Amino acid sequence: MSLIVALDAARSPQQLSLIVESLCGIVEGFKLGLPLLLSLGPAAAEKARERCPSAMWIADLKLADIGAIMVKTAEAVLNAADIFIAHGFVGYTGALDELKDWLDSHGKRLVLVVSMSHPGSSEVYDKSLPAILHVAQKVKPWGVVAPATRPEIVALTRRRLGQGYKILSPGVGVQGAEPGTALCAGADYEIVGRMITSSSEPRVAALMVKRRQQEALQRCR
Ligand code: XMP
Repeated sequence: MSLIVALDAARSPQQLSLIVESLCGIVEGFKLGLPLLLSLGPAAAEKARERCPSAMWIADLKLADIGAIMVKTAEAVLNAADIFIAHGFVGYTGALDELKDWLDSHGKRLVLVVSMSHPGSSEVYDKSLPAILHVAQKVKPWGVVAPATRPEIVALTRRRLGQGYKILSPGVGVQGAEPGTALCAGADYEIVGRMITSSSEPRVAALMVKRRQQEALQRCR
């Protein structure tokens, strides 16, 4: 399974739990977005997590601060997730080194953003890609985020980091990438949000994404 569903909005804790239940067992994980965590709160996220404890749960707070503050922020949603996303550009010393140590000590995993899926990523983020990949090699996170919308960045990230890191790729669906594009470029997981969550039948939409991922993999392998 290579599909992570981005949960960025839900009308209520009940609706959140329902969508999680309907997708449990057919997706690898759930990514909790900041809008969702702010509107429903960490307790609702924890309750939803109880509906599918076998899945990977990722808190996407896009952490980008000094180490002590990133730690405090992650602490606020500690029980809702196993994996925490931080921006790679904040650097190692006094920032990601402290966050990584703290997550390690709590049995949690870190994922670093090394590039983003929107076009503006090429204005600043991608110009710093070599430096950010260097930071990633120093921090040694469990995984990195690289964009399905620019598969050449996924492929470059895989070449530079090797097989020791998971690559998570958003940008499939509404942002334009076809399911399977990032997997074919070397990613381990594709993150899909609105294409599934805005569907009237999220489970059917998720199964369709998985089928298209498989078809793409058969073509590229
Ligand atoms: P959609 O609805 O566009 O949702 O499928 C995409 C999800 O992924 C997040 N996202 C990113 N996260 N780096 C990240 O760490 C990125 O480049 C990036 N692009 C999209 C977005 O917040 C949403 O949850």
